[in-house]
Amino acid sequence: WGVLGHATVAYVAQHYISPEAASWAKQVLNDTSDSYLASIASWADNYRLTAAGKWSAPLHYIDAMDDPPTSCNLDYERDCPEEGCSISAIANYTLRAGNSQLSTAQTAEALKFLVHFIGDLAQPLHDENYEVGGNGIAVTFNNYSDNLHSDWDTYMPAMLVGGSSLADAKGWAGSLVDEISSGAYKKQAKKWTKGDDISNTIKTASRWASEANALVCTVVMPDGAAALQTGDLYPGYYNSAIGTIELQIARAGYRLANWLDQIYKKKVAKQ
Ligand code: ADE
Ligand code: ZN
Ligand code: ZN
Repeated sequence: WGVLGHATVAYVAQHYISPEAASWAKQVLNDTSDSYLASIASWADNYRLTAAGKWSAPLHYIDAMDDPPTSCNLDYERDCPEEGCSISAIANYTLRAGNSQLSTAQTAEALKFLVHFIGDLAQPLHDENYEVGGNGIAVTFNNYSDNLHSDWDTYMPAMLVGGSSLADAKGWAGSLVDEISSGAYKKQAKKWTKGDDISNTIKTASRWASEANALVCTVVMPDGAAALQTGDLYPGYYNSAIGTIELQIARAGYRLANWLDQIYKKKVAKQ
């Protein structure tokens, strides 16, 4: 996702995180503002662009070697290479965030990576190898020539919200929280975190990734990539996709809150 998506995931998480885990995260991040997670949610995207952070670029996705739209499937052993992927990164930084032997700076880094990677994992094209996660699929969106990946990351969310600032993210998160707490997501939300377990990170993150990967076949390119290159993706395709984008952002935020709660609880119990 772009800045808007990541910050929105973070604001949703800030709403559902326990007060105890929230004050721990604020202390580690040295930020007591009401944007303590949203402000750091895109740090990993800036870091990957630096010479020092280049190594972390593969950790933003897992390239499922499947065959959409005919078959979507994701297999951690098959699809996560030696250099790492989003699933192995979530496992690693979950351990590090909970490790009381590490410095505050190291714990902060782990939190910054986790907030970002749990967001990215929910973007279906970050769980897909086809044309480098859609980066190689040239399309037109609202009269602009771009690619399918950037439409999912950035342009479709921005079209929905009308901007990409932290204030825009806060507003979007507010409406997603309403849907989770009392609206369209209320019944399903409890199931979103069912079985999520920081003692079983690979299994949990693989389940999240498989769920997002399946959307590549049902929503992202149900009729193949060529069908997306015959005309403007706005408004028809946008309307078919935007509900899934909202669902994936809401889910990621809700899961992130529960994940940070679990990390903090286990950390305190060990002390
Ligand atoms: N680079 C390689 N594969 C990618 C993917 N699935 N998403 C984003 N960037 C990538
Ligand atoms: Zn992306
Ligand atoms: Zn990213």
